[in-house]
Amino acid sequence: MVDSLYREQILDHYRNPRNKGALDPADYSHEDQNPLCGDEVRIDLRVHDGIVTEVRFDGRGCAISQASASMLTELVEGRPLEEVKAITKDDLLDELGIPVSPARLKCALLGLKCLKAGIYGVKSVHDDEL
Ligand code: FES
Repeated sequence: MVDSLYREQILDHYRNPRNKGALDPADYSHEDQNPLCGDEVRIDLRVHDGIVTEVRFDGRGCAISQASASMLTELVEGRPLEEVKAITKDDLLDELGIPVSPARLKCALLGLKCLKAGIYGVKSVHDDEL
């Protein structure tokens, strides 16, 4: 029952993505791919006085990857950058609310990998570092 509510929420984010688009210029921007399927997410951030004032994502891929990127934007907007840096994969998986199989973990974490790589200015972030 609870699972089905979360599934509905994921489908809603997939069908009606929040904060979809681009920021140009952005203070931080990064695009990454799920190497297993080639699906993509890009995340752009604007930061003012240490606070994430605006965030957008864009991409294409499965419902989990796109919904979790959409949920992630809601999680970071308006928060101090230092708090955003501290978001873990468990925080995001909690937000998704359903058990994610190992096979779908890369889908669920694609947006977070992008966010962290952008903030830290690195090419990519390994799942284990999230
Ligand atoms: Fe490609 Fe999920 S199947 S990101």
